[in-house]
Amino acid sequence: MGRGSRVAIIGAGSVGSSIAFALLLQKISSEILLVDVVPEAVEGQVLDLSDANFISSTQVRGGTFQEAGQCDIVVITAGAKQKSGETRVELIERNYKILNNVIGSMKPFNPNLILLIVANPVDILTRIAQKLSGLPERQVFGSGTFLDSSRLRLKLASVLGVIIWIFGIAENAIHSYVLGEHGDSQIIAWSSAHAGGKPLLDFPEIQKLDKESVAKEIASKAYKIIELKGATYFGIAGCVSMLIHCIVLNQRHIRPLSTYIKEYDCVFSMPVVLGSNGIERIIDISLSEEEKNKLRRSASALKSICAKY
Ligand SMILES: NC(=O)c1ccc[n+]([C@@H]2O[C@H](COP(=O)([O-])OP(=O)(O)OC[C@H]3O[C@@H](n4cnc5c(N)ncnc54)[C@H](O)[C@@H]3O)[C@@H](O)[C@H]2O)c1
Repeated sequence: MGRGSRVAIIGAGSVGSSIAFALLLQKISSEILLVDVVPEAVEGQVLDLSDANFISSTQVRGGTFQEAGQCDIVVITAGAKQKSGETRVELIERNYKILNNVIGSMKPFNPNLILLIVANPVDILTRIAQKLSGLPERQVFGSGTFLDSSRLRLKLASVLGVIIWIFGIAENAIHSYVLGEHGDSQIIAWSSAHAGGKPLLDFPEIQKLDKESVAKEIASKAYKIIELKGATYFGIAGCVSMLIHCIVLNQRHIRPLSTYIKEYDCVFSMPVVLGSNGIERIIDISLSEEEKNKLRRSASALKSICAKY
């Protein structure tokens, strides 16, 4: 293994407990610590997860903020979630205070610790966490648009697979990214999307596609889930468990994650190489002028919010 595999999850709500469950199924961590300001929430989740412990030897227990600060990886899910119709950016006031408390309570950090931000608005909170934690930037990043990109690939696989057994392409053979904000101003990088080296824009099914409506569908999927069941958690849990797998095994997959991007002078998602030290490298993806302009507008909106904190 590339690094130790003690993982702390801050926030034992729907997202935190689902991440713990996904990690348990992956059998990748030696120990998972759940930390929350509500002790009953931790106790309940630990007891419930213990019923699934026969699946793996991963130990799940409640922990303190100080113990979390000494783990190998800390995932921050603590925070208010969106209400129906509320945007992610509207959570900033409440979740900034929580993040500030959480980081303060975990210090001093294990200097090699990786801090993975999941709470929303994830891009703004990642920027704040980079400043507050004092850890190297490469070790502090957010889940960003990895989830949105998974949603996109699923959608495109279905578009390309109308008659799946003849023309269908496996989802993981489609290389396409949602970039920028994990939120309303995200963009789909159509110009660089490909399957088997063939640009997706050259596939007749994709040429016929209403791209604006696909972009809206992907950006609003979370709103639809929240409207129907109050919260989203399985998708992000799957994504975070994959990211932790990649870090622990130093797999160096390319994932769109929230990190500081010099060209746009802001924190949002671009494809990065993820390994045991965190973000090993940012991939300079080629984008059309129109895509870059949209990202510049998104960056300036995010930057003006970050400047307040
Ligand atoms: N990045 C993504 O793709 C993504 C996806 C889904 C949800 N989220 C975000 O994840 C966050 C959590 O969502 P949820 O559905 O689990 O909410 P939830 O209300 O179920 O759980 C939040 C938990 O955080 C805890 N908490 C609050 N303040 C704390 C503190 N100071 N220290 C420790 N714990 C604290 C609460 O007690 C609660 O148990 C939200 O901000 C939501 O928007 C992000």
